[in-house]
Amino acid sequence: MSEPNESPTSSVDPSHVVSAPAIPEHGWADLLASPTLRCADGCDATTSDETPQTNCPGCGRASLACVYEGGERAGLRIRAQAGPGLIRWRALLPIRSGETYRRVTLGEGDSPLLSVDRLAASCGLGELLVKDESTQPMGSFKARGFSVLVMRALEHGVEELIAPSAGNAAVALSAYAARAGIAASVFVPEDLPRTFVDAARDYGARVTATGAHMAIAGKAAAAYLEEARAAGRRVHPVGTLREPYRVEGKKTMGLELWEQTGGDLPDAIIYPTGGGTGLLGIEKALLELQAAGLIATDARLPRLYAVQLAGCRPLVSVFESQPDGGGPVEEVGADHAPPAASAALGLRVARPASLLRLVRVLQRTGGGAVSVDDGAIESARADLFGAGIDAAPEGAATLAALRALRASGTIAEGSRVVLLNTASMARYVGL
Ligand SMILES: Cc1ncc(COP(=O)(O)O)c(C=O)c1O
Ligand SMILES: [Zn+2]
Repeated sequence: MSEPNESPTSSVDPSHVVSAPAIPEHGWADLLASPTLRCADGCDATTSDETPQTNCPGCGRASLACVYEGGERAGLRIRAQAGPGLIRWRALLPIRSGETYRRVTLGEGDSPLLSVDRLAASCGLGELLVKDESTQPMGSFKARGFSVLVMRALEHGVEELIAPSAGNAAVALSAYAARAGIAASVFVPEDLPRTFVDAARDYGARVTATGAHMAIAGKAAAAYLEEARAAGRRVHPVGTLREPYRVEGKKTMGLELWEQTGGDLPDAIIYPTGGGTGLLGIEKALLELQAAGLIATDARLPRLYAVQLAGCRPLVSVFESQPDGGGPVEEVGADHAPPAASAALGLRVARPASLLRLVRVLQRTGGGAVSVDDGAIESARADLFGAGIDAAPEGAATLAALRALRASGTIAEGSRVVLLNTASMARYVGL
């Protein structure tokens, strides 16, 4: 009998293979999930996951969400899935086949959770961790959402994907669309650094740079969509929350956080919020782990804090105008002014598609919203680089927010906090 370590195949621990994601060769069918799409904004309409969907068919809002049945069984399946890569969470993902995953993946998922002890000490915290998404394909967390979205679009037979973007989404969508052989058309603000535009074009996307901010790019994308539909093309709009799958990819940040902390979740998570997909995704992950019996039902979930910009802070406005969150949020709280210039490109979203849902996440978890200015972001960015972390302005905004939340006493001394560094600085040239 040979020793277990003698054979080259048996000596490989799948959790240490980092060069290529493991593609499960067997057991795939047992571990698949088929979600129902249900409105997450109150009307409770349901629809099929077998065809591409956009807004809720019941109320017309950007609110369709994947719901997985099977609670405890999902827990068993999650436990059964070893190996690296986002796909090990397939018991809670809408992807239908290993073949789709193999064709489209770029190795997304598994970002490190880094201790930053000196910054923890300077903030008076018990522990400070940075989930570092700068390591993701194309340099941002957008890889997670778009990988899952594009895999499902491939399964649905979509011909072309269309989205407005503040920068990172354009690059991630273009890359995954290239992998899948699907056309991509992206609409970005005209002052976006060329590095983003060039990368998206290199991946073969059609890039239109128009207007001063995302809302204008969004209108151009909507007009293009109408034309393409009128011409009978199988196009699909995939702007923030306009479809249900990007949240599913982004929720893997929350699933990994649970795994990486050994289930000992932090007191607070600070997330840079533009459209809010990541915020919704992280809460969804924790609730699904609870439903799967992997987090105790009476456990207190981390408080979620949204960081916004001093010159673009729709969520903060809602909290200021009605701290108890009782009234009609969409009328009272939203900022209508165009967002001020900022290096934190992804936070320049004045009218998130689902503001009310975002507010509810913050309220449910006992967290809140805070705004920071570009000066505080820049100094936080220097501190993160000083700790060896490549932080884009949006990621650095979380450290600036932490400092504000500590100064106001909102986050208590000795707390354990996780910051989401959502992107690398590499493409933010000239900002
Ligand atoms: C680096 C970065 N951080 C945060 C965000 C905001 O993400 P979300 O839509 O999940 O709020 C974006 C969106 O463009 C981004 O590019
Ligand atoms: Zn609805």
